[in-house]
Amino acid sequence: MHHFSYIDGRLHAESVPLDRIAAEVGTPCYVYSTATLTRHYRAFADAFAGLGASICYAMKANGNRAVLRLLTGMGSGVDVVSGGEMALALAAGAPAGRIVFSGVGKTEDEIAAALQAGVHQLNVESEPELDAIDTVARRMGVKAPVAIRVNPDVDAATHAKITTGKAENKFGIEWTSARQVFRRAMTLEGIAVKGAAIHIGSQILDLGPFEAAFLKVRDLVAMLRADGVTVERLDLGGGLGVPYHQGDESPPPPAAYAEVVRRTLGDLGCALTIEPGRAIAGNAGVLVSRVIYRKDGITRTFAVVDAAMNDLMRPALYDAWHDIWPVVEPPAHAERPLVDVVGPVCETTDTFARDRALPPVAPGDLIAFMTAGAYGAVMANQYNGRPLVPEVLVDGDRFHVVRRRPRLEDLAALEDLPPWLAD
Ligand code: LLP
Repeated sequence: MHHFSYIDGRLHAESVPLDRIAAEVGTPCYVYSTATLTRHYRAFADAFAGLGASICYAMKANGNRAVLRLLTGMGSGVDVVSGGEMALALAAGAPAGRIVFSGVGKTEDEIAAALQAGVHQLNVESEPELDAIDTVARRMGVKAPVAIRVNPDVDAATHAKITTGKAENKFGIEWTSARQVFRRAMTLEGIAVKGAAIHIGSQILDLGPFEAAFLKVRDLVAMLRADGVTVERLDLGGGLGVPYHQGDESPPPPAAYAEVVRRTLGDLGCALTIEPGRAIAGNAGVLVSRVIYRKDGITRTFAVVDAAMNDLMRPALYDAWHDIWPVVEPPAHAERPLVDVVGPVCETTDTFARDRALPPVAPGDLIAFMTAGAYGAVMANQYNGRPLVPEVLVDGDRFHVVRRRPRLEDLAALEDLPPWLAD
């Protein structure tokens, strides 16, 4: 459920017409809905309230400071995966005690910064990383609170490029060595073992893989406790999917997901954490773009739009589908000829949709790529000399540019000519 809908024939974000934002801010631009973000956060908070679980929003999905401020203001913690994300989360006002630091390649500097800040927990991804955390913590005279991420080797049945919980993936400690690594961790002076963590993948549309993974975690907890290992906390990661194909995909609601957690892990006496990203931010955002040209080729028709793969990488990277809605509502029985929607970047993969049945769009028309609130702006880059697109947050009938469009001179702002080329 989201708050982008047609009112009087124009697509609105809550009460604000998208054409008004496009006129004031320019295109392309990302537009986020406060009501949708709030609604999704509450759905998780309500579903997990009975389980006493903490929600640590995975800010990699959308790390805009306004989004973070909104969510942390409602009580969310934050899952971060780099020193940069941690700094952004702290700057947005997230209390360090509600930050979980995940990620497979934490550097010594990042570990020290996390311990200095006093984060809730570091999720350890490998034995060498465990040793690095131990070393840094001992040097600082503290004990690092850690959860050890295990790889449960389940197939999340999602896109191969976003699955993480299979043995062949780089994430977590292999299931078969987990027990021995926990035992060793208990002996390290700089480490306080708090529990276990998993994350099996993203855009998961079926509860089966979650259930399989949670049951494996349940067995692991029993084994570890028998070994005398402390397991006070379980971090279950994120991964719940969202509907990218309107009417075609129906991901389980947070309440059903919470029910699986309750059934499989609810009686272990562990403090639970979940790290949803996409399910909170995904359909809380759209990318608004303007059609520049319509190009009638011999075999295909192209709508060339002003957004490109650098602004929204998901179609180019994962062949991802995003629904495309014209900003002016088409008549109910409008013809829908097939069109390829492409961006201006000089790559064939800069294609948002192939053979998409769309009401005819003409140069100057505005369109919205739906469900672009997660893994959209955060993954953007400046390829082809295209400045990052601005982000706008709507709240009811007001809106604010929460990340401005860089000026063209900002494109090379960090570059410096060597003196021998400076003339
Ligand atoms: N926790 C960990 C440790 C993660 O690696 C991830 C996502 C999450 C939580 C949040 O997962 P979510 O609830 O958003 O599914 N760029 C890809 C998605 C990559 C996800 C990476 N990890 C995409 O656009 O589909």
